[in-house]
Amino acid sequence: MSHKILVFYGSYRSDRKGIRLADWLVAQFIARGEAAELIDAKAVGLPMLDRMYKEYPKGQAPEALETLAGKIKAADAFVFVTGEYNWGVQPGLKNLTDHFLEEWFWRPAAIASYSAGRIAGARSSFIWHGTLSEMGMIVVSSTLAVGPIGQALTAEAKPAGEAGQQLERAFVRFADDLAWWTEAARTQRAHKAPPY
Ligand SMILES: Cc1cc2nc3c(=O)[nH]c(=O)nc-3n(C[C@H](O)[C@H](O)[C@H](O)COP(=O)(O)O)c2cc1C
Repeated sequence: MSHKILVFYGSYRSDRKGIRLADWLVAQFIARGEAAELIDAKAVGLPMLDRMYKEYPKGQAPEALETLAGKIKAADAFVFVTGEYNWGVQPGLKNLTDHFLEEWFWRPAAIASYSAGRIAGARSSFIWHGTLSEMGMIVVSSTLAVGPIGQALTAEAKPAGEAGQQLERAFVRFADDLAWWTEAARTQRAHKAPPY
């Protein structure tokens, strides 16, 4: 049975490179038979956080927020594609995630980090782990760390060179682990309704 996987990406830069990884991941999950969809924070275009989704009276949230809330609630799993700005997370992705809380609960999340160098976004990956856990997701232990992003994936989002080969190899376990937790969480939700 295929799983609904949302792949989040949050750079707003004109010359952004992480979109290569986000696009490649969506294609790989679809090739595995999953129903994967890219959620590009820049395209969604939420303003800086004012009210969280839940703080709007029912039916009165802005359309982009309402649509995204529906997708998050319907999803089986999440993937966060995370770059690193000055050892921290990218503000666009963080801003999008902060609009929601309960909508994330009871589903697994996996982190795919990247950066221009060989650190591959490891510091932002570390930060996201705690953040996603705080937001009620089961953070799977398998991660992807892609660097240098400009060498690992071409502009057409095709793996290249040694870094690209490593990414292709690592993806198998990453996707297998996420699928295992996705099925476990789905089974448990069906067996016992979440308390909230
Ligand atoms: C404001 C800014 C801060 C950055 N800080 C880091 C950093 O702390 N560590 C790192 O490895 N790369 C850093 N970089 C380089 C990014 O990894 C690289 O530009 C990457 O492509 C950013 O993702 P994006 O292209 O999807 O926006 C930084 C880039 C920018 C624009």
